[in-house]
Amino acid sequence: MNVIVTKSYEDSCQRAAELIEAAVLANPQAKLGLATGGTPLPIYRRLIEDCKAGKISFAKVRTVNLDEYCGLNGSNTQSYRWFMDHNLFNEIDIDKTNTYVPSGLGDLAANCREVDKKVRENGVPELQLLGIGNNGHIGFNEAADLLHTETHIEQLTESTIAANARFFDKPEAVPTQAITMGLSSILAAKSIVLVATGAAKAAAIRGLLCNDEVTTQNPSTFLKLHPNATVIIDAALATAAGYEN
Ligand code: F6R
Repeated sequence: MNVIVTKSYEDSCQRAAELIEAAVLANPQAKLGLATGGTPLPIYRRLIEDCKAGKISFAKVRTVNLDEYCGLNGSNTQSYRWFMDHNLFNEIDIDKTNTYVPSGLGDLAANCREVDKKVRENGVPELQLLGIGNNGHIGFNEAADLLHTETHIEQLTESTIAANARFFDKPEAVPTQAITMGLSSILAAKSIVLVATGAAKAAAIRGLLCNDEVTTQNPSTFLKLHPNATVIIDAALATAAGYEN
């Protein structure tokens, strides 16, 4: 596991944006695995700035997102399709038909199979961007006695619902289920970049970086099995997690 400890979350996002842009410069038709949530927003803002400044083009890039809430259609402002369109895709030169966000509506079993196909067809993602939940979830693979390898429907935990309530008018409005890539769909990417910040993530990051154990109770620990995973954290989180270089 490569670990980068930066001075600030802002620097972490800069490093992550650089890694994404390097992947696209190396292969303009790269497939990128993307994440939503609060963490990647400054990363996406940098990609937008650099695209508008003509430093990078996403014209031939393809994307696959990790997950989507069940029951929300793409025009719902809380859906991850809306999030990606408004926080990235609408602002860069990407061809929207080359962007894919799982659907949490209709035939969910068929949607799950479609996600796994999208991950692997015409090559796996060059790079998968990840955030991490307070309980160590990646995608929406929640800490549990067993995890799934393939895309599936996940029952969100109380802790995840509480953490995501900040994006909704009221906690009861947070969907309780999501469609998410499983562990093998995530680990299929050629490289993985996980960015984390904030003391709430300290326990999860400690489990990820401070020992060689793999446990379903902290799904992020499965990244230890990946040959090219990079974790970017700021110094404050490194200290809170007890991580020493
Ligand atoms: C989002 C996702 C989640 C988030 C995680 C952290 O697509 O898959 O695993 O990355 O819940 O969320 P934030 O960044 O809001 O702390």
